[in-house]
Amino acid sequence: MIDRARIWLLIFMAVVFITTGCDRRGPDGEQVDPREKIVIKFSHVVAEDTPKGQAARRFARLVQERTGGRVEVQVFPNSVLYKDGEEMDALQQGAVQIIAPTTSKLSCLAPQWQLLDLPYLFENEEQVHQALDGEIGKKLFATLEPHNIHPLAFWDNGFKQMTNSKRPLVHPRDFAGLTFRVMINSQVLEEQFRSLGANATQMPFSDVYGALSRNQVDGQENTMSNIYSQRFYQVQPYMTVSNHGYMGYVVLTNATFWRSLPPDIREIIEKTLAEVTWWEREQAARLNDKNFRQIKESGKVHVHIQTEGERAEWQAALEPLYQKFRPIIGAELLDEAFRLKGSPAAGS
Ligand code: LMR
Repeated sequence: MIDRARIWLLIFMAVVFITTGCDRRGPDGEQVDPREKIVIKFSHVVAEDTPKGQAARRFARLVQERTGGRVEVQVFPNSVLYKDGEEMDALQQGAVQIIAPTTSKLSCLAPQWQLLDLPYLFENEEQVHQALDGEIGKKLFATLEPHNIHPLAFWDNGFKQMTNSKRPLVHPRDFAGLTFRVMINSQVLEEQFRSLGANATQMPFSDVYGALSRNQVDGQENTMSNIYSQRFYQVQPYMTVSNHGYMGYVVLTNATFWRSLPPDIREIIEKTLAEVTWWEREQAARLNDKNFRQIKESGKVHVHIQTEGERAEWQAALEPLYQKFRPIIGAELLDEAFRLKGSPAAGS
């Protein structure tokens, strides 16, 4: 005979699964015994020799030293544990304790995060840091509370460049008919390529090199350190240095886990992370410069450095995104970003 209680339980679990999307909760944590060793699994998707990879390792070493070995941070790079689309679930279920995804990937929890995907929102890193270390960062952090996620820090990756296998991308018309990989969860990024006449396909980071080398997509956008460390430059003969948009990380922990930690451990983690954040930001700038030189020296890529006039053409083609996403991102965040830039709000 069929067990009715089991059927109802299965239906209930299916409804929870379907309605929560990328928002799944883990079990409640208990306060950790102060004598117990604490293991923190830090999972990420990039190579070790990148700003995020190096900062994760530095954070792990310093926390271990400063807690006298009470806390061990185990770093899992290169999607070896979880890839894009899996790591957020793993965090919420308590399978890992820290992740540091690109902010775009949080749009499935709160669409406001797409603010940071808007092309030409920031002109330089100073503007980015002013926004993220100020009101904008605070407002974005607040969106994670209902999802049992505790945000810890913003780390840099850098400004994005365009690569592709077909032709130099100089004018917006050069994008016509090409297909670009975009990061998962961001409608803004999809729309960015559509506005330029191209197609967009969402894809986890770990699949990008394979898709580019098999010509399943024609191009992608990324920072110099990712283009270099993932060897995209070996299969993408054209690169435009466009700096058209910013790509950064948010370091996240599970809120239940965070509350379960002894206060002195939380304090050490917070202080260490603040220090590593400054180091990481410097490292990101340094690595992007170094990797750009290495890409040029490889002789494998035709590099086009965008002129001011070309930048203005791209910007004009992408301007309608501001209007389109204003209701989704929210006027408050957008207006705050423009106030920081000292220019009149776009899309209002
Ligand atoms: C990407 O998916 O291209 C990046 O978000 C990867 C990363 O974490 O830098």
